[in-house]
Amino acid sequence: MEKICVVGLGYIGLPTSAIFARAGYNVLGVDVSERVIEKLNRGEIHIEEVGLPEIVKQVVNEGKLRASVTPEEADVFIIAVPTPIHEDLTANVDYVISATKAIAPFLKKGNIVIVESTIPPRTMDDVVAPILREQGFDTEKDLYLAHCPERVLPGRILIELVENTRIVGGTTPEAAKQAADVYRKIVTGDVLETEAVTAEMSKLMENTFRDVNIALANELAKISQRLGVDAHKVIELANKHPRVNIHHPGPGVGGHCLAVDPYFIVEKATEEAKLIKLSRDINNSMPHFVTTQVHRLTAELDEPRVAVFGLTYKGNIDDVRESPALEIVEMLLDNKRYDLKVYDPHVQQEQVEFPLSSFEEAVKDAHLVVVLADHNEFKSLNSKELASLMKTPVVFDTKNCTHLDEEQLTVYRIGNLMNLKSIQE
Ligand SMILES: NC(=O)c1ccc[n+]([C@@H]2O[C@H](COP(=O)([O-])OP(=O)(O)OC[C@H]3O[C@@H](n4cnc5c(N)ncnc54)[C@H](O)[C@@H]3O)[C@@H](O)[C@H]2O)c1
Repeated sequence: MEKICVVGLGYIGLPTSAIFARAGYNVLGVDVSERVIEKLNRGEIHIEEVGLPEIVKQVVNEGKLRASVTPEEADVFIIAVPTPIHEDLTANVDYVISATKAIAPFLKKGNIVIVESTIPPRTMDDVVAPILREQGFDTEKDLYLAHCPERVLPGRILIELVENTRIVGGTTPEAAKQAADVYRKIVTGDVLETEAVTAEMSKLMENTFRDVNIALANELAKISQRLGVDAHKVIELANKHPRVNIHHPGPGVGGHCLAVDPYFIVEKATEEAKLIKLSRDINNSMPHFVTTQVHRLTAELDEPRVAVFGLTYKGNIDDVRESPALEIVEMLLDNKRYDLKVYDPHVQQEQVEFPLSSFEEAVKDAHLVVVLADHNEFKSLNSKELASLMKTPVVFDTKNCTHLDEEQLTVYRIGNLMNLKSIQE
């Protein structure tokens, strides 16, 4: 059976290694973190993903999956290292470069090299291939280079790795075919072959599509406030059109995909990517928009007590990376007039630098609750309990997710701020 070397054992590389090992491949997982390697060799994992601990334990016990800090010779190499952005919003492909350099001494003619990390357009042709050419390989003949982006949803990774349609972009048509055949061994969905740059752009455009559409919804929320319209009603009615699907406004866009990937396009085609850049700017402006509404709501209070509900960038997860809620909390903390309490049942104290409160501590005597994440706990908030604990029963729901009784509480939604009145003691 073929041998696969997977470089980078995070949310993508580890499940990928486990799935290939379960399919019978001999898999070596490589990571720069000794901790990750030691754990994996004991059959344990360092990330949370449904169903993964059991599979890893099994394949490690069977000797199908091993881990090391050093690559070894193999038939197929898969790179799944991080690709964040620098402070100046340019892509950081340093991890991809160092992973490519790390596998280079172990490559042989006929090997397949796949990058799964999300990368800027032309990275396979302009960054990865030249490194391997410097090592003496003819990258059109000796090796098969391909980009196969990942589009799994955390929490469903093991299902989606197998069932999702995969796009495999080769630096040559033969490279696309060879790499696609690797995935055909584990994927039940379609495996579509294309060029590397097309695969790179498809992945980026999937996330950009969503970012741009969220920006449109956010712009609608702002316009609605000016014009005195309920944006949520507008969206509901417009979406009755068979070919319209307006997204939902919110406090901004976070996470390490939607808030990052569009910049990879902006960097490479700054002149042309105007809408993409503007959408990023609109989404980045939402934390300021939210805090402005909080200031307006509390303008007439001497010491406003505000409870923030939710810190994660989306509901029912524990991930706060690039979360707009963090920015909102920081802006409110900077403005010294607030007595601010923050509550998120999914976030641990060590994940953030300000104190977290329990539900009761947060709402007790609060003038205002600001909902920033659509956790199930917030969707089912009890109106009576909330109203009885708060000093003034006012809620600003930026996710339009609560189902509160508006007889008992005043509820403002991000797309429905036309009747906003300053809270009175
Ligand atoms: N997590 C997701 O849901 C998701 C979805 C689609 C695409 N992606 C993309 O997949 C890529 C990987 O993301 P992730 O979430 O798995 O990242 P991660 O941070 O969970 O894991 C990356 C791992 O790579 C290791 N690493 C870094 N440099 C290395 C090197 N030079 N050699 C070996 N190991 C190295 C790190 O120690 C870490 O364990 C990124 O480009 C990301 O944008 C992620």
